[in-house]
Amino acid sequence: MPLPICHLNGEYLPLEAARVSPLDRAFLFADAVYEVIPVYAGRPFRLRAHADRLVRSLAGIRMPAPLSHEELAAVCRTLIDRNGGGDQYLYVQVSRGAEFGRNHAIPEALPPTLFAFASRLEPLSAQILERGVSAITAADTRWARRDIKSTALLANVLLKQLSVDAGAYETILLENGQLTEGSSTTVHVVEDGVIRTPPNGRQMLPGTTREVVEMLASRLDIGCESGPVSEARLRSADEIWLAFSTRGVLPVTRLDDAAVGDGRPGALFRRLHGAFHDYVGELAGTPAL
Ligand SMILES: Cc1ncc(COP(=O)(O)O)c(C=O)c1O
Repeated sequence: MPLPICHLNGEYLPLEAARVSPLDRAFLFADAVYEVIPVYAGRPFRLRAHADRLVRSLAGIRMPAPLSHEELAAVCRTLIDRNGGGDQYLYVQVSRGAEFGRNHAIPEALPPTLFAFASRLEPLSAQILERGVSAITAADTRWARRDIKSTALLANVLLKQLSVDAGAYETILLENGQLTEGSSTTVHVVEDGVIRTPPNGRQMLPGTTREVVEMLASRLDIGCESGPVSEARLRSADEIWLAFSTRGVLPVTRLDDAAVGDGRPGALFRRLHGAFHDYVGELAGTPAL
C-alpha cells in the first residue's frame, strides 16, 4: 500500500496531488532509472549500495546524478518520517525530464524529474517461509543492458505475468541455456553446500541483496561462487533462492512443476535467512550511509 506523502522535484506533498507532465521523457520513452530501497524499523537498508547503483544507472543513460548521496539520504529520511516510520520501501525514480516536443536525441540542459514515494512493507507470511514459493522458467526476452535499472520494464512485466498466469511466484529467466536472473529478482542456486550465482555483467542487474547474501555466506562459512549456472544445474540444484530488496531471500521449492531438492526450504536457506534477520537487527540505530 502506498503511503500518503511523496517527494517530487524538491517538494513533499500528498501522493494524490503529485503531477508530472505527459511530455516527461519517462512517460514517452521510459527514459528514466530507479531504485527500490527497503526500510526496516525506520532505517533504510543498504542505502549506499542503492545510491551507488543509482549513480551507475544514471551514468549508463548519460545523466549526471541530480543529488548527492547525502541529499538522497535526506529525502529518504524525510519520506520515512513523514510516512510514519516502521517497515517501508522507498521507490526513487530519476527521469531525463520534460521537453516541449518529442525527440529521440537527448536534449541538452533539461532539468531532470526526481520522484520518490513510500509504501508499507508488509510482513512476510509464515506460509512462504515454511513452504517456499514456486517459479516457472521462460526465455529472457529483455534488452542487452539489463545492468541498468531502467524503468523500461515491459519485458519484465510480461515475463512476470507468465508466472501469475501459471499460479507461480516468479519467472526465472534463461538465455542460451544459462540462468540470468528472475523477472525482478537475483537467483541463487545451492549445489553440494555451495551457493552459486551467475556473474554480474550486462545480462543482469547487480543486485544489492545478492551482496548481502555473499557477505552473510562468508560470515557463516558457507561457500559462495560467482559463475555460470546452466539450465541443467538450475534444474538439479539442491536449493534455489530468490534475492531482492523488498523480501530479502526467499526459497523456491517448485520449479516448472518439479520439486526443488526435497520440495521444502533447504537447510542453508534457513541459516542464511536467520543471519539476514540478525543482520537487520545489528544495523538498527547505525547511520544509514
Ligand atoms: C531484474 C532484477 N534483478 C535483480 C533484482 C534484485 O536487486 P536488489 O537485490 O537490489 O533488489 C531486481 C530488483 O528489483 C530486479 O528487478
